[in-house]
Amino acid sequence: MAKKKQDRRIGRILSFITRLAVGKKPRRLFPSSRHDEIDGIIVGLRMLAEELQVLQNRNEQSRDGLRHLTLKLFKTREEEKKKLSANLHDFLGTFAVAVAAQFVMLRQEIDEDKKTEARLCLKRINRLFTDSISSLKKVAVDLRPPHLTILGLPEALREYLSEMSRQNRLEIEFEQKIGRLHVSEDPAITLYRITQETLNNILQHACAKKVRVFLGKEGKRLVLTISDDGKGMCLETANRQSGKLGIIGMRERVSLLGGEFSIQSVSKKGTRVKVVLPFSAAM
Ligand SMILES: Nc1ncnc2c1ncn2[C@@H]1O[C@H](COP(=O)(O)OP(=O)(O)O)[C@@H](O)[C@H]1O
Ligand SMILES: [Mg+2]
Repeated sequence: MAKKKQDRRIGRILSFITRLAVGKKPRRLFPSSRHDEIDGIIVGLRMLAEELQVLQNRNEQSRDGLRHLTLKLFKTREEEKKKLSANLHDFLGTFAVAVAAQFVMLRQEIDEDKKTEARLCLKRINRLFTDSISSLKKVAVDLRPPHLTILGLPEALREYLSEMSRQNRLEIEFEQKIGRLHVSEDPAITLYRITQETLNNILQHACAKKVRVFLGKEGKRLVLTISDDGKGMCLETANRQSGKLGIIGMRERVSLLGGEFSIQSVSKKGTRVKVVLPFSAAM
């Protein structure tokens, strides 16, 4: 009888340790009135479990803190970009008008004296000036896509993708089926940045001929998929590569909005990036 009782107590200790080891909350373990060695073990184990719980709580708190910090970091970055882009636009506008006026005046003066060489030089400067302005404008647009707030996500994506297709001679098909659904700023910028990052990855790594981008609804969730027909990748290697922040950054951005991020890839067939956001985060 005593042996049976002993076995049961040891059984309970084992189940306690097993649950602790797999991170589950163990059932409560009580010492008996005998004050024997097994009771000593039970008391020790209870102390250990309490200590573990404290550590786990602390770990969760610091993880929450880190997530909060990351979210803030992403937001601050976007805010900074927005400010910089607005300043660039303002500066460029004023600068362009002032310099253009000077050029007109100068050209008139030169025309009167008919100094051909000077006029040619002026033409070259003019060309340099126009080229730099348009590159700077591109930088400003990249910092903060202006169409995003004006046109909304689907149209901004359409514009961006058709520009990418033109510049890189890549076939890109875009389909959107979200109708009049308005996607608010944070998720819109997240989906826009993910499209940019994924397109950059396709151009850098995939050797793809065709890309399909789809923005739609799946039940009460917003879905973005970007598929290419390139060489595919080994997901394990991509996840393990240190110093690569593209995919990690995308995953983190999506999880901050409570969404899901996944990649499927088949060697020599292509890669598909999928983002799913709950409507609560998207509107
Ligand atoms: N569409 C793709 N097709 C093939 N390989 C890809 C694709 N996207 C990403 N990869 C692979 O995944 C790796 C990690 O991507 P990423 O995190 O964006 O880092 P990076 O672009 O800086 O290398 C890339 O180095 C590349 O090997
Ligand atoms: Mg990348």
